Amino acid sequence: MPRQKFDASYYRRFYSSTPVHSRKKVEELATAVHAMCSWWDVPVKSVLDVGAGLGYWRDWYAKTHPRVKRLSVDISAHACEKYGHERHDIAEWCPRTSFDLVVCHGVLQYLTSSQAERAITNLATATRHVLYLEVPTTDDIEHSIDAKSTDLDIHARSGAWYRKQLLRHFDQAGAGLWVKRDGDVVLYELERSR
Ligand SMILES: C[S@@+](CC[C@H](N)C(=O)[O-])C[C@H]1O[C@@H](n2cnc3c(N)ncnc32)[C@H](O)[C@@H]1O
Repeated sequence: MPRQKFDASYYRRFYSSTPVHSRKKVEELATAVHAMCSWWDVPVKSVLDVGAGLGYWRDWYAKTHPRVKRLSVDISAHACEKYGHERHDIAEWCPRTSFDLVVCHGVLQYLTSSQAERAITNLATATRHVLYLEVPTTDDIEHSIDAKSTDLDIHARSGAWYRKQLLRHFDQAGAGLWVKRDGDVVLYELERSR
């Protein structure tokens, strides 16, 4: 695993005074994602957080739903040691069993296109029901992102590129939620974009 980028200074830089994702914001998001899973009758008994960083998702589940099985993974040796994750590169790794909910929050922009393609296949294999995915696209970089607090040393790709990869495995439900195609969850026509 050659990447040295995600060392202590990376987390200091992007998670101190104006964090990209604050713990409070992630807690609000996790509350909403978990509630949407309940709405779809998805029993969230297991959660995998890929590229977990400071581990905010894992911590929220430990605090609010301690019986849910949690696994957090990251490529960063520093994050794994400091925040207690298993060390894996999602472009090369897939868990042996699938998880009801998989989270991949702000990670795929660090991968080249071929790595991201493999990562999406691994995320799909790892997901039993629902994937929550956030990744900045070229359009976001041009129009939506706060360049002062966001790492722009990334591989920017279009939304169309991501959709093409993701729609091989998932239906897009909006707000970052992707529901496993041909699984148990049935979305009404206007709940999904396909
Ligand atoms: C912007 S941080 C996001 C952290 C966390 N998900 C959040 O939303 O706060 C990106 C994280 O992705 C991890 N990462 C980057 N490439 C990865 C890969 N190929 N496999 C697993 N984790 C990776 C980095 O080490 C870093 O912790």
